[in-house]
Amino acid sequence: MIDGCDTVELAFAHGTPLYVTDETRIRDNFRGYIQALGEYYSPVRVLYAAKANGNLSILKILAQEGAGADVFSSGELRLALLAGMKPEHLLFNGSSKSEADHRLAVEKGVRVSLDSLDELAQLDRIAGEAGKVVEISFRVNPAMDVPTHPKIATGLATSKFGIPACDITDAYVAALACKNVIPVGIHCHIGSQILDIEPFAKEAQVMMEIVEELHRMGVKFKFIDLGGGLGVAYDHHGPDAPSFMSYAGAVMPVCTSILGRLGISPEIWIEPGRSLVCDSTVLLTKVNSVKQAHKTFVNVDAGFNLLIRPVMYDSYHEVLIANRADEEPAGTFTVTGPICETGDILAHDRELPAAIAGDLIAILDAGAYGYSMASQYNGRGRCAEVLVKNGKAELMRRAETMEDLMTTLRTPSWLV
Ligand code: LLP
Repeated sequence: MIDGCDTVELAFAHGTPLYVTDETRIRDNFRGYIQALGEYYSPVRVLYAAKANGNLSILKILAQEGAGADVFSSGELRLALLAGMKPEHLLFNGSSKSEADHRLAVEKGVRVSLDSLDELAQLDRIAGEAGKVVEISFRVNPAMDVPTHPKIATGLATSKFGIPACDITDAYVAALACKNVIPVGIHCHIGSQILDIEPFAKEAQVMMEIVEELHRMGVKFKFIDLGGGLGVAYDHHGPDAPSFMSYAGAVMPVCTSILGRLGISPEIWIEPGRSLVCDSTVLLTKVNSVKQAHKTFVNVDAGFNLLIRPVMYDSYHEVLIANRADEEPAGTFTVTGPICETGDILAHDRELPAAIAGDLIAILDAGAYGYSMASQYNGRGRCAEVLVKNGKAELMRRAETMEDLMTTLRTPSWLV
């Protein structure tokens, strides 16, 4: 059951594979952050990292709660505005923004987090052409090693993101000299799926020392964006993830003590994605067949086309058989998708009740970087997404059809 809805009935009504999202869980997560941060400081803002799950309904839910968004493309920017988020609550991030991206930010009045001096020059020119002044931050690369998968550590000295901390004052000096941009913020992100609190406290310390220096150089801070990255406990039998309260307790006092000393009170922003939406969603997938070979394979109708995390980052997601969740395990099963690649395995060697064709497998904690990283690989349309609330369930995205897959195709004249 998910918030009063039976997953077996949902699968029957909408077909599989199917993403199912619990609206209330997203609202609860968001409020958890606001409450925890609010214990320490009042001008705080949570910018949802739209890349985690960019469905318009999810953005609308978070907009209703008062969230802003970290947007990483013009597409995410447009979706966030469409969802009702205010331009001043958005930050356009990215290490490789195009001229068109900058133009859109200028047109919509959205602040931009710059990743290089090249971007500074481009944005200054584009804002000048539009006769506007744009508020900016720079993304700092704090050269921090963090305990997570190397592909999602974003603040390593070798990462592509941000300006090295040792060069950051020069960047602000350059920005202060520009006519059409004005530096009002600072931004950082150290990595994703981090289950330790300590790196966040260390990052806050690095950031606040930079803020202090820049403040003395004349930067008038309106926001300090500490990034996202708090992990979730994918393994339900392992340790819990840090709570929002322990995150706030580790990070906020570092900020408030330095801000107090400087006598300034800019907004403190965070931009979580995963920890807001991950546990709101399951991916339902039907068992097509079971095969006993060197191990027992449970062949389901969702693969890495719909949830790439296990293949890309060796991620663990709990799986259960939704139509007999109360049965005892009867053996060890490996859940495999329908994609033509050996690596298309969603769950290795799991203790499950004896699966048979027609069973419904639920893959848990699939709300972050699930659908948003899905593809049409192997000529498979992406599946539908359903939102549930208090026993009600409605589509928030229909499944793609064969027609959708064909619609962008064109035939060069010599092949007609
Ligand atoms: N802000 C920035 C600038 C980011 O780069 C990210 C994530 C976030 C916010 C949100 O971080 P979160 O709170 O979700 O950890 N596809 C990977 C995760 C990639 C995260 C990249 N950046 C996965 O499935 O684990």
